[in-house]
Amino acid sequence: PPWAMGREDIVRQELSSLHGIPLYKHFVEGWPQVEAFQARPDDLLIATYPKSGEWPPGRGCKVGDGDEASPLRCSPCATGTTWLSEILDMIYHDGDVEKCRRDAIFNRVPFLEMKAPEMPSGVELLGKTPSPRLVKTHLPVQLLPTSFQDKDCKVIYMARNPKDVVVSYYYFYQMAKMHPDPGTLSEFLENFMAGKVAYGSWYDHVRGWWDKRQEKRLLYLFYEDMKKDPRQELHKILQFLGKEVAEETVARILHHTSFQEMKKNPAANYETMPTFLMDHNLSPFLRKGVSGDWQNHFTVAQNERFNQHYQQCMAGSDLHFQMEV
Ligand code: A3P
Repeated sequence: PPWAMGREDIVRQELSSLHGIPLYKHFVEGWPQVEAFQARPDDLLIATYPKSGEWPPGRGCKVGDGDEASPLRCSPCATGTTWLSEILDMIYHDGDVEKCRRDAIFNRVPFLEMKAPEMPSGVELLGKTPSPRLVKTHLPVQLLPTSFQDKDCKVIYMARNPKDVVVSYYYFYQMAKMHPDPGTLSEFLENFMAGKVAYGSWYDHVRGWWDKRQEKRLLYLFYEDMKKDPRQELHKILQFLGKEVAEETVARILHHTSFQEMKKNPAANYETMPTFLMDHNLSPFLRKGVSGDWQNHFTVAQNERFNQHYQQCMAGSDLHFQMEV
């Protein structure tokens, strides 16, 4: 079929590098348009890890990297981006469930740096999106197009503890075939720690955005807090946006964006993505949606090694993660 043309160009490709960050080669090819992207003052940026890189020079976490300049690979997100996106689209539509079914989440909240053959790019989609726009990105803060800063756009960043990120990412690598083969979990863990996954080093990503929270209009959220008390986090978001909504609308948003509801919602669960790109038989996009699943995957030895590396990479930071809820 015509849509399958060119897929050999996208499936299981090695990652290229964007300013030292491992990223899908098509994204790198589309970078000039992303860099020149014109934000609008009322754009709201949703930023999360999935993929990042070697940064800042000389300060990034190099543990396990030896002397090599960090060769990275990129992958998508494992951090609750889709969850946050659905919540925001619901807020923007005053809790109207039908309006939030108008299209798939990846069209309602375009992915800024997305580029793939035969598909409209993120920048193209955003050009056709009426304001106020929601914009998704996984870019590390130092690569964010300058226009977002110039227009003083609001940003919501969501972080998730790295042990759950790595497990979620591992399954995502399996099902989302624009990634290289992840190998065994043990191999993937090593790559993750070394920042050799799509979007590079998780440590640099979460720390880079954390350090910007004074300069930007930025709300920094944690997946674990969302799991523990979604209502409280939703109120934080509403306050950040300066929106007031009826308590009944809050309840509707919370229900519609629960894991179970999103999992069965074709507009939120990515089932409309072509299977050559995402194969939900290998692992569903909305997989488990819990905190602490890493405990079912890490061996004791892997956990010890990971903890040690984590401490080295996060030393001197006041950013802390809850590894389970
Ligand atoms: P798991 O693989 O641990 O299940 P992203 O959208 O950034 O790619 O993140 C995907 C992760 O967020 C997956 O984690 C997915 O299940 C989880 N997720 C998506 N929607 C969720 C929701 N409504 N509640 C809790 N977790 C959710």
